[in-house]
Amino acid sequence: MEVVIAPAEELAVLAADAIETLLRRDPATVLGLATGSSPLKVYDELARRHEQDGLSFDRATGFMLDEYVGLTEDHPQRYRNVIETEIASRVAWPADRVHGPDGLADDLPAACAAYEAAIAQAGGVDLQILGIGTDGHIAFNEPGSSLASRTRIKTLTRQTRLDNARFFDDDVDQVPSHCLTQGLGTIMDARHLVLLATGRHKAEAVHQLVEGPISAMWPATVMQMHPHATVLVDDAAASRL
Ligand code: GLP
Repeated sequence: MEVVIAPAEELAVLAADAIETLLRRDPATVLGLATGSSPLKVYDELARRHEQDGLSFDRATGFMLDEYVGLTEDHPQRYRNVIETEIASRVAWPADRVHGPDGLADDLPAACAAYEAAIAQAGGVDLQILGIGTDGHIAFNEPGSSLASRTRIKTLTRQTRLDNARFFDDDVDQVPSHCLTQGLGTIMDARHLVLLATGRHKAEAVHQLVEGPISAMWPATVMQMHPHATVLVDDAAASRL
């Protein structure tokens, strides 16, 4: 695992560099997309490169990490819509090339299985962008998640719902209680993991991720087993290393 400590702007440039290198080498690169605030500067940087340097996503494929269950098609916090707003529309990414688990499916387990099949069909994820929850979750793999888990339905912890209430009028009751999420095993199949974390509130999770024992109680620690994992953190998030 490589750990880079730098200001947030520099971290975003490093992540964007890794993505641009892949896209220039193979325009049909498969990228794993994360929601949350952590990747936003990376998406800004990619949008800038699309505008100014013609970086193209025309032939790339995107797979989102997770999705809330039950948010309506047009809900602004539906992750499919968040990804559309934050990155896809800004880099003219064809809509049919960006995929997410279907949180509105009648048969949610079948939707999860179909999602796994779609990722496999695309040849797997070349580079997966990740954030980390304050409780050490990646995607929505909450503490206690099997380290070998695949895409499935999960119940969100009270902590995660409180953390995400800021996107729902600060009202925790509006935050869905369930989600579909790629499993830890699914995420570990990606060929390069790039995790971003900034701010002191992430310091404990980053400490566990980098220095803690591998444990389902800190799900991100599974990344210690990955052959190519990059952890990009600012001073505050690195303050307990
Ligand atoms: C959510 C997302 C995760 C994300 C985490 C951290 O729970 N499902 O993918 O990593 O929040 O969010 P943030 O980057 O806003 O701190």
